[in-house]
Amino acid sequence: MGYGNQGRAHALNLRDSGMRVTVGARPGGRGSATAAADGFSPLPLPEAARQGNLVIVALPDEMHAACWASDLAPHLRPDAIVGFLHGFSIHHGLVKPASDLGVVMVAPKGPGKTLRERFEQGLGIPALFAVHQVGRDAARTRAIGLAWAAGIGSARAAIVETTFAAECETDLFGEQAVLCGGMMALVQAAFDTLVQAGYPPELAYMECCQELKQIADLVFERGPAGMRAAISNTAEFGAFEAGQQLVDDAMREKLRTILAGIRGGAFGARFQSDAAAGFPWMRAKRAAADADAIEAAGRGVRAWMPWLDNRKDSR
Ligand SMILES: NC(=O)c1ccc[n+]([C@@H]2O[C@H](COP(=O)([O-])OP(=O)(O)OC[C@H]3O[C@@H](n4cnc5c(N)ncnc54)[C@H](OP(=O)(O)O)[C@@H]3O)[C@@H](O)[C@H]2O)c1
Repeated sequence: MGYGNQGRAHALNLRDSGMRVTVGARPGGRGSATAAADGFSPLPLPEAARQGNLVIVALPDEMHAACWASDLAPHLRPDAIVGFLHGFSIHHGLVKPASDLGVVMVAPKGPGKTLRERFEQGLGIPALFAVHQVGRDAARTRAIGLAWAAGIGSARAAIVETTFAAECETDLFGEQAVLCGGMMALVQAAFDTLVQAGYPPELAYMECCQELKQIADLVFERGPAGMRAAISNTAEFGAFEAGQQLVDDAMREKLRTILAGIRGGAFGARFQSDAAAGFPWMRAKRAAADADAIEAAGRGVRAWMPWLDNRKDSR
């Protein structure tokens, strides 16, 4: 259900693993057209839901409750198993499946694009796996959930069993504190610092943003110590000094506050409230960030490397 970032990768990988896949997509939508181009015959959500042994909800988290009530729940087979890719809607009680349905989660630890690319290379990315409720047949629910995880290629890396709560809270915290929030805010602040001090924006972009990939690749392949072994003593000495200056006790307290907001449900409530109003807060933030000088600098730097994938994201 849904043919976006994750839905497309799951559908293609499962089909290539020999499973029969029906794509559910809203008629006339971008996902529907892409699924048709990929050789599927997409159906409206209710019709697709009627067919599924395993109904995978690859829809945006903020749409789960509405789609569940109208397009999915009334149409499911009595022995259906429902699959989620992230624990958000179940953990926050936005979707409450009937107790006779099996409910599982396979949360790949990476974007759909990477999930598909690794699969095509004969590899896989790790996935978190959880059973929220066993439904009518515990063994079948678990077996089908694990077959899904294996079918997208994750058994080639690791399938790590956890709970919906742990996946949801650690995933939200990781993306907010580091991956998409903290790290990008630090990049922006460092870029601003260099530009305000008179350095060319392209230089600031290369040093504070573009080079992230090289460091991230080293951390990904070798871990933090392996990364440190691959950089100069000058870089390592300065990194220890600046790191402890930046991440002080006040910063650690802020991280604990962010985690508490996630665990207590305050973040989920704010997100749902903005989503219900059409995301006014997030759209304003997005527009301001998209118009920032860092984007123009980035376009300039990336134009020097035409082999980079410069396609826009799903928006
Ligand atoms: N993005 C990631 O890397 C990632 C990683 C792990 C887990 N997840 C989880 O995966 C799930 C899906 O996220 P995503 O990023 O793949 O979503 P996405 O790219 O935004 O894709 C959403 C899909 O849902 C469809 N859709 C949206 N609203 C709909 C509606 N009202 N009725 C019918 N279809 C609708 C869209 O259709 P149209 O094409 O017609 O607009 C699109 O095909 C979420 O639970 C997310 O937390 C995402």
